[in-house]
Amino acid sequence: MRVKILLIATAILLLNCLQMQAQSSKSDKKILITYFTMPETDGVDTSSGASRIVADGKLQGNTEYIAAIIQQATKGELFAIRTVQQYPGTHKELVDYAKKENESKVRPKLITKIKDLDKYDVIFIGFPNWWYDMPMPLYSFFDEYDFSGKTIVPFCTHGGSRFSQAIKTITELEKGAKILDGYSVSRNNLAVAKDEVVKWIQKIGVKE
Ligand SMILES: Cc1cc2nc3c(=O)[nH]c(=O)nc-3n(C[C@H](O)[C@H](O)[C@H](O)COP(=O)(O)O)c2cc1C
Repeated sequence: MRVKILLIATAILLLNCLQMQAQSSKSDKKILITYFTMPETDGVDTSSGASRIVADGKLQGNTEYIAAIIQQATKGELFAIRTVQQYPGTHKELVDYAKKENESKVRPKLITKIKDLDKYDVIFIGFPNWWYDMPMPLYSFFDEYDFSGKTIVPFCTHGGSRFSQAIKTITELEKGAKILDGYSVSRNNLAVAKDEVVKWIQKIGVKE
């Protein structure tokens, strides 16, 4: 009888240990939230369809705003993808500039570098949809880093085109990475994004 009780107690202890191990390995994942954003200087806020938002008194690009929500939900680290060159601030000039850049398939030089990529398990990658594609700095970004063995979580903001072909492109560019279901939100729906992002993070299971 004693032996039986001892065996059951050991089994329960073992189960608890395994559960704790599973939980800690889940929450121990190191998360990096990378994003490219380009707030426009001639808009007022997202209600007018402009590419910028004022949140908590801070002016942010739409994608930057979503990145900050993801950061709060995951407690990961933020990383802004920035280029050496300056993009035009006003809408029309930016749209024209980005079109030329996309057509010429140029890879803009990046000024920000991820320190110690090795330590991260999950990399969120956010961008605005530009010309039914990722902005070209994202191509520079994927050229620069090899995310093999890591989990990529794409997110994007847009004016109606959602991801366009971006998920397919990322899958082709980062063959060694696991790509999770992404989140896209229209710049006109940023007001509901907070709740959506929290639910999405729970659904994809990167955080307990
Ligand atoms: C150069 C440029 C091209 C764009 N092209 C598209 C497009 O093809 N499809 C779309 O849905 N939205 C398009 N948009 C709208 C942006 O995706 C949207 O405003 C986004 O939220 C901007 O994010 P940001 O403030 O983080 O830069 C474009 C905006 C710009 C500036």
